[in-house]
Amino acid sequence: MRDVLPSLSAAGTHSTSDPSSVARRARAALHPAPAALRRRLIAWYRRNARPLPWRGTRDPYRIWVSETMLQQTRVATTRDYYKAFLARFPTLDSLARARSQDVLAAWSGLGYYRRARHLHDAARVVVRDHAGRVPRDPAAFRALAGVGRYTMGAVLSLAFDRPLAVLDGNVARVLSRLFALRAAVRDPRGARRLWTLAEALVPERGARDWNQALMELGATVCVPRAPRCTACPVRALCRARAMGRVSAFPPVVARRAPVEVRRAVALIARDGRLLMARREGPLLEGLWEPPGVDLGRGASVRAQLEAALARIGVRARLKPSGRSVRHVITHSQITVALWRGEPVTPVSPSARLRWVDPGRARVPLTALARRLTAV
Ligand code: ADE
Repeated sequence: MRDVLPSLSAAGTHSTSDPSSVARRARAALHPAPAALRRRLIAWYRRNARPLPWRGTRDPYRIWVSETMLQQTRVATTRDYYKAFLARFPTLDSLARARSQDVLAAWSGLGYYRRARHLHDAARVVVRDHAGRVPRDPAAFRALAGVGRYTMGAVLSLAFDRPLAVLDGNVARVLSRLFALRAAVRDPRGARRLWTLAEALVPERGARDWNQALMELGATVCVPRAPRCTACPVRALCRARAMGRVSAFPPVVARRAPVEVRRAVALIARDGRLLMARREGPLLEGLWEPPGVDLGRGASVRAQLEAALARIGVRARLKPSGRSVRHVITHSQITVALWRGEPVTPVSPSARLRWVDPGRARVPLTALARRLTAV
């Protein structure tokens, strides 16, 4: 394996006199053999594929929406959001024409909002530069905001059957085990080797089913802990299983420790509505939640919260509620202390401040705001 993979990547990067024959020879050296793997895995997939909503379509826009959501969100959660998002923005054109706060509102609760902003920007570029049609050309598609190697492979293979590989956590685990490859997708060198392998395996025709079959096996059978090897259609071809060492693959790579953040927010209510402020900064820009502050050292929590409120023009009498909630976003573990506030002077709504009826919010809320208003 070790010597096969570098020669494959050479085939992809240098123009040799006949690169396809290099790839063909390298493929022939792979073990298990790609043809046998494909036959068995695709036959299994056709019988066992879960009927997920995005599987009934070849519309590249719908597939793009699903793949964008699925990158950081579980299938079960994605299902409902996907349907609601497409009910709201049924075509790429309708998304391109939407206001960004409506797009964020439809994404609200899914997290990783940059995905929604990119999708929205990219839809506008497709309308402007590609006559509203998702480009089939890999380079043109990949040039769009938010489209990386995975999204490019997933959308163009599932929509147009283009022979492009995909590699996500599920596919990486399946390949690492099948080929007993000591490579983890979170490690850059491991990811390079896995991509090279995934590209060597993708068929010229039928990439659509092959890629989905790999993902499905990883999601339902070749799962991280306690894989269901007896239900696996390619168990007889699996090198990790032949070695009796399935749990040794893929190798474990230490996760980055989450950053601990302490935050305080003020819950200020009036006539059944809650005061919300527009968040700034890279992660939550444009989303709304009760005004608050990430706490530093030094001044008391009360003083820091008062100062943060003053900065947006709110003067309030504050009382600790004694309650706090733990909240996780991206790589941060946030402990949020909840305070109650009574305005001392009238609050004037502005571009960064408004009263929101939590049940009928017309602005996109952060996941924290949704949690706080549900309790
Ligand atoms: N995860 C990422 N893409 C997927 C897809 N198309 N189907 C199921 N799970 C997925």
